[in-house]
Amino acid sequence: MCAAFALAQQPGQQASKADGKEWWRDAVFYEIYPRSFADSNKDGVGDLMGIASKLDYLKDLGVDAIWITPCFPSPQIDFGYDVSDYENIDPVYGTLADFDTLAAEAKKRGIHIILDFVVNHTSDQHQWFLDSMSSRTSKHRDWYIWRDGKGPEQPPNNWISDFGGSAWALDPTTGQYYYHMFHKAQPDLNWRNPAVKDAMFDVTRWWYKRGVSGFRLDAVDTLFEDPNLHDNPILPGVNVFGDPKEENKYNSKLPEVHDVLRELRKIADEYDAVLIGETWTTDIDELNRYYGDHDNELQLPMDFLFTTVKKLSAEEFRKQIAAVNLAKGWPAYVISNHDIVRSYDRYGDGEHNDQIAKLMAGMHLTLRGTPIMYYGEEIGMKTTPPSRKEDVKDPIGIRGWPQEKGRDGERTPMQWDASENAGFSKATPWLPIPDTHKTHNVATESKDANSVLAFYKQVLKLRHTNDALLEGSYVPLNEKDQNVLSYLRVSASKSVLVVLNMSGTRQTSHFDFSKQRFSQIHKLIATGESSAEGTVITLGAYGVFIGELK
Ligand code: GLC
Repeated sequence: MCAAFALAQQPGQQASKADGKEWWRDAVFYEIYPRSFADSNKDGVGDLMGIASKLDYLKDLGVDAIWITPCFPSPQIDFGYDVSDYENIDPVYGTLADFDTLAAEAKKRGIHIILDFVVNHTSDQHQWFLDSMSSRTSKHRDWYIWRDGKGPEQPPNNWISDFGGSAWALDPTTGQYYYHMFHKAQPDLNWRNPAVKDAMFDVTRWWYKRGVSGFRLDAVDTLFEDPNLHDNPILPGVNVFGDPKEENKYNSKLPEVHDVLRELRKIADEYDAVLIGETWTTDIDELNRYYGDHDNELQLPMDFLFTTVKKLSAEEFRKQIAAVNLAKGWPAYVISNHDIVRSYDRYGDGEHNDQIAKLMAGMHLTLRGTPIMYYGEEIGMKTTPPSRKEDVKDPIGIRGWPQEKGRDGERTPMQWDASENAGFSKATPWLPIPDTHKTHNVATESKDANSVLAFYKQVLKLRHTNDALLEGSYVPLNEKDQNVLSYLRVSASKSVLVVLNMSGTRQTSHFDFSKQRFSQIHKLIATGESSAEGTVITLGAYGVFIGELK
């Protein structure tokens, strides 16, 4: 039976692809931290041929596009986010020929490759910066942000780096300071210089021609700074590095960023490519601006609202989902990435963690929008931060220890099997393998129909074949329920009900679809004791039920 819901077309919920070219709407993206995915050359660090060797796994899982975090030549101070050459591959990850092989193998399997474009800054070892710092009159001097100090040993203003300390570093050769929003080995490019823009735009063309299907734009909101260098307002308290807290009023989210995004989008459109933004915002108006006024900026500004939800809460998630569904463009949801504690640990209660991982998958993969997964999420990988300062690799952990332990914990090697190095490498891995690899690994979970991995596969398979889950509108249900998050996805031919118990106790949810002339709910996927009786759904602790209305 087919019934149209009154809410099927809410504002912001465009129903279908404009011209069939927007492949990224139906795609499931999967973030790969290349150092930690698979090591093919036995040096303890993952590489591109390692990724190539796992493409069948990714295809089988249900991944349509992989986003590889920076694999370009780099001194690896910030593990690739300090690029010294945008048009090559770092030897630690392989060669350009390896990239071409990976691209060809991915294409054969219908998997798109998205690269990470570090737009805000380069490495201090990039030729552009080396020339820039060589003299005040060098060709590339104005490619970066150089200024005189306010006085002896006084930086130009009070801006604080995201990685701790002043955002200005004094260069003794020319006696001026350069600006770095992140590490001092990551000088900010001067995007007000047209030559910088041209060079960076050319980088995207270069990769598109090599078969790349888009970019994730790193730290995009920090591209521009106030040219008058006003001091930022100081807020109460100190950050984890002991610096005064400040509002990034004059060095983040400046409107000029949108001009650049429009230009990047024009080029992307020529190649049918997608632009994904690292758009940290908790504000829906701000998120909206990244789509552009006429769908002319980012197709997928990442929605990080979920990552700000610190504990499981039907009410909180309902609020965030509702907000994003009213956004101007197609939502892109993230629950974990290489910079934040994995959702497995954010929401895990220590007792039902695997069930909670399934619950999060049940939500992430059935919402209206494009899910961006993070490697290891599908096997319930745990965040495992270092326990001793001397083991820390991440620069922010080194500087911020012990308050800030850094991001090593969410970057540990992928757990392929239960062997000593988890099947990741034949050599000692660059980060230690957590003990949980003995139970949480691809090989073991592939054999267990109740594993987190099996659940991910099931939901991903359903998602790819069910047009309500792909394109249907989002209709919230039982909005007062504090424990259970329920919604419908409604397309012209199908209505799918998703019921997620966000509590540790058994719950019963009553639905009334009589107005829509549905009387039965046909189970598609359910965990544990979750079941349907007519239109009443019973769920075990953190249970998931996905069904089709009949
Ligand atoms: C982004 C990246 C992060 C990196 C920073 C500087 O936030 O996700 O890993 O350290 O940019 O490039």
